[in-house]
Amino acid sequence: MKKQYETIDLKPLMMGPNALRMVKELTAKLNLRPGMRIMDLGCGQGITSLFLAEEYGVKVCAVDLWIPATENYRRFLQWGIDSQVIPIHADANALPFADGYFDAVVSVDSYHYFGREAGYLEEKLAPLVKPDGVIALAFPGLKQEMERPSPAMLLSWDEEAMKTIRSGQWWREHLSKAQNISVLEVSELACCDQAWRDWLACEENPYAQSDRPAMEAGAGKDMNLLAAVLKRK
Ligand SMILES: C[S@@+](CC[C@H](N)C(=O)[O-])C[C@H]1O[C@@H](n2cnc3c(N)ncnc32)[C@H](O)[C@@H]1O
Repeated sequence: MKKQYETIDLKPLMMGPNALRMVKELTAKLNLRPGMRIMDLGCGQGITSLFLAEEYGVKVCAVDLWIPATENYRRFLQWGIDSQVIPIHADANALPFADGYFDAVVSVDSYHYFGREAGYLEEKLAPLVKPDGVIALAFPGLKQEMERPSPAMLLSWDEEAMKTIRSGQWWREHLSKAQNISVLEVSELACCDQAWRDWLACEENPYAQSDRPAMEAGAGKDMNLLAAVLKRK
């Protein structure tokens, strides 16, 4: 029988490049097992939490800032995963969990908003993960560092927004500064082009449509989707 994440209408739930494609490719790099306790950080409208619960049988704390917990709880009830997935409204900078609580953190299309702050990973996120636990991140990035955004990019995104979009090399150096983690991998996601196409095809989503001018003017040739897999020391 098909799982719900394979059949639900994704379009109304999407908030950026197709998170389901990204989380599938990201978690294929991990060794998630039933019963593990996972934080889905920046879960948005819960697509990735549904996938984690159904595909891996893990327990999920679905944390998000912009989407109220009550709204996600309604969806989790409707999907019948409310005993497995706990909706939590929290800022990634003030996560309300005990140290060593999680077997893993999974974060899709979210980490680049808050994870560029010096010390964030080492002081605020890594302590919540058990020794040898993993932190798996997937987010938009650049193919190469650029001195400034291209004219095509500026058709949809301002300079401030583009500060969140960095190359894999930049992220590797940045993440490696945390003393309490090892960087196992920083790589490109193969689903990049299709994940962007899926997002731009959300005709009724004004955010998707506002990303179109940049991508149609060729910004996509410099854009990437990156994965980072880290291990807690
Ligand atoms: C582009 S949306 C992606 C949502 C979802 N992961 C997905 O891919 O569909 C970015 C998400 O990051 C979350 N986010 C941004 N800053 C955050 C912060 N400081 N703490 C927690 N979540 C944050 C937002 O609430 C938002 O849902």
